Amino acid sequence: ARVRHYKFNVVMKNATRLCSTKPIVTVNGKFPGPTIYAREDDTVLIKVVNHVKYNVSIHWHGVRQLRTGWADGPAYITQCPIQPGQAYVYNFTLTGQRGTLWWHAHILWLRATVHGALVILPKLGVPYPFPKPHMEQVIILGEWWKSDTEAVINEALKSGLAPNVSDAHTINGFSGPVQGCSSQEGFKLEAEPGKTYLLRIINAALNEELFFKIAGHQFTVVEVDAVYTKPFKTNTITIAPGQTTNVLLTTNQATGKYLVAASPFMDAAILVDNTTATATLHYSGTLSSTVTTLTALPPKNATPVATSFTDSLRSLNSKEFPSKVPLEIDHSLFFTISLGVNPCPTCVNGSRVVADINNVSFVMPKISLLQAHFFNISGVFTDDFPAKPPVVYNFTGTQPTNFATTNGTRLYRLAYNSTVQIVLQDTGMITPENHPIHLHGFNFFVVGRGIGNFNSKKNPKNFNLVDPVERNTVGVPAGGWTAIRFRADNPGVWFMHCHLEIHTTWGLKMAFVVDNGKGPNESLLPPPSDLPKC
Ligand code: C2O
Repeated sequence: ARVRHYKFNVVMKNATRLCSTKPIVTVNGKFPGPTIYAREDDTVLIKVVNHVKYNVSIHWHGVRQLRTGWADGPAYITQCPIQPGQAYVYNFTLTGQRGTLWWHAHILWLRATVHGALVILPKLGVPYPFPKPHMEQVIILGEWWKSDTEAVINEALKSGLAPNVSDAHTINGFSGPVQGCSSQEGFKLEAEPGKTYLLRIINAALNEELFFKIAGHQFTVVEVDAVYTKPFKTNTITIAPGQTTNVLLTTNQATGKYLVAASPFMDAAILVDNTTATATLHYSGTLSSTVTTLTALPPKNATPVATSFTDSLRSLNSKEFPSKVPLEIDHSLFFTISLGVNPCPTCVNGSRVVADINNVSFVMPKISLLQAHFFNISGVFTDDFPAKPPVVYNFTGTQPTNFATTNGTRLYRLAYNSTVQIVLQDTGMITPENHPIHLHGFNFFVVGRGIGNFNSKKNPKNFNLVDPVERNTVGVPAGGWTAIRFRADNPGVWFMHCHLEIHTTWGLKMAFVVDNGKGPNESLLPPPSDLPKC
């Protein structure tokens, strides 16, 4: 294993998209940001230097950070932010992980433009469990606002209402022609005919799940969230913010140009950027300028398309990569996920939208939770996060009258190596919406999923305890539930939240505190000396 060094200068940079120019926060002046390459078991040191006026922190999304929670990145959870003019070296080892992950700012809404790919290749000489691709290509899907994204969210917080939706989606930073700006070019994916490519697709959008398609071509899905899957064929990828999907693409069609498209999937949500981002797949040697278009894109409420995609995901569960789903459960948790409305005297309407888990809307602390935990600083958090909601609701029936949320910085405590099952139930209190729930510090197994109320007698009988997909971000369906399991084998404080950034902002987040084990390699390491101060 090697040690790899990277330098991330966080700098402002003017960017022109949708026929207008604005300054954006970037890493090294790039949008999307630079790709980090490493191999399984390598150690990566990334020096992040903050040259902008905002506080910054960077999260390495999906990296397990075994015993190195100090390098995880979410501001006020595992570190104080890096202040303007300051620097911090993120130092971590990619133990037993290989595949596509990504990195992004984890403070305010800076991740809109501060994000990039993290590609972990298998150990030297170790092949993929699928045919070796001719070439690899990172595809980052994103969202673009014409106005400043920090202004968008600050405005929404002041008014108590939902923020403006984005003005376009992007594929590797470009939207392709959109209404009002037909000159906007799209990304070109150059390929040789008759070859197989590995596409490493990342959804870095702030607030929208996406469909991804290429005209005339099929994909073979081989990995999600840096865990190999049983290969399956599909012509549409469904991908939620936070998720990554690796697919094989074979250029087996007639030499030509083919449209690549990313369009929103938001089920019942009302506030959606409806634009389709386009790019093109160019076979080398194409003479004609005609682009083969898509016959159909799924509409934004194409739930069956999304469901059939997620239902096809299975872990490889091979001899080399056996499924390690916990069969016995120490902590059985039931988490309701809701959007609600709370009084807000200072807001324009006197109320504001809030989001919660088990009626607790999470309040960010003033110093990092990991520091409070490690140094035993009292008064920062409590460890009484409720294991179930205060009222037993019938989520598909009439709305209960009492769904007021409470505020708190409440964590749930886990003993080292204990096993956890969480049933995540969407309540659809305001409007049913899918929630991509992301857990830091672990991969989890998705053992079940359904629509309507979770039935604790019936549903567990059908759980997949053989080859459930293993990942770090999973969609909880609108008006339905998802059950996940994981082993708490990583001491520290680990954030769990909706990866729709607006829901995180509204409070749809909580954290687990995992105590040290007794063994020699079962404790959180001490913080690095350059850990930022609040
Ligand atoms: Cu990709 Cu806590 O985030």
